[in-house]
Amino acid sequence: MKKIKKKYNLKKKKIFVLGGSGLIGFEVCKEFLEFESNVLNLDIKKKNIKNKNYEFTKFDIADFENLEINLFKIIKKYGCPDVLINCSYPKTNDWSKNNFLSIKLKSFYQNINLQLTSSSWILKIFADEMKKKKKLGSIIQLSSIYGIVGQNLNIYQSTNMTENFPYSIIKGGQSNLVKQMASYYGRYKIRVNAVCAGGVFDNQNKKFVKNYSEQVPIKRMAKAHEISSTIIFLSSDASSYITGSNLIVDGGWTSI
Ligand SMILES: NC(=O)c1ccc[n+]([C@@H]2O[C@H](COP(=O)([O-])OP(=O)(O)OC[C@H]3O[C@@H](n4cnc5c(N)ncnc54)[C@H](O)[C@@H]3O)[C@@H](O)[C@H]2O)c1
Repeated sequence: MKKIKKKYNLKKKKIFVLGGSGLIGFEVCKEFLEFESNVLNLDIKKKNIKNKNYEFTKFDIADFENLEINLFKIIKKYGCPDVLINCSYPKTNDWSKNNFLSIKLKSFYQNINLQLTSSSWILKIFADEMKKKKKLGSIIQLSSIYGIVGQNLNIYQSTNMTENFPYSIIKGGQSNLVKQMASYYGRYKIRVNAVCAGGVFDNQNKKFVKNYSEQVPIKRMAKAHEISSTIIFLSSDASSYITGSNLIVDGGWTSI
């Protein structure tokens, strides 16, 4: 049996982070570098980290026509990852108008495609590659509390923010995607999990932060590193018997 510290040995592991320049993704990149993993950030927005184990490659999830070609180019150049994490958050320019009153059908299906079709297809391509290379791979999709429950509209009161119609549909899809994939890829020793994150503090509108915090048993929003530390766990051998799970990191939001 491996000692617990050894289970967290992620040194030289090949980690691909989709959306690694974002609020959560960047924290994920930095934490894996602390573990001396080799990190490849795949994003449309470049972010630098001075570390020899870090690389950035521009990758556009929204380029559906070339999605497969581009993914295979990346795999050809960098090889097959041990761990794939999807922290990307592609959306249309009118995403903030995707509430029940204003949403247009075109924007609805574009966002479903951008977020749900892309994550499903990309996770499948990497899982197939891990299977081919006989990797004991781990795949982690960022989901949300809204993959489990609908949005609580109280948090938008007295702010200029609104609910978002497709978000829970997309996140619910991603939360079930990992179960469907775990069912198929388990026999190949590839684990597929989701992290259902609560709202992460990012200097949002003060009223929103207050409203949000009042709804959470822990009485505050999440910090990005509280999400990334869960991702480290799911990437490591410490979680070797966890697959198809939705690990909830929400300060108790979904427990009440
Ligand atoms: N921030 C939160 O409060 C929160 C809470 C729960 C779940 N989540 C989920 O976590 C994930 C990451 O959220 P975040 O807050 O870090 O988002 P973010 O917007 O800060 O980062 C998303 C990243 O995706 C990249 N991206 C956008 N379009 C892309 C494209 N076409 N191709 C490639 N990369 C693209 C962006 O450049 C950005 O770096 C999302 O799935 C989100 O739903 C976030």
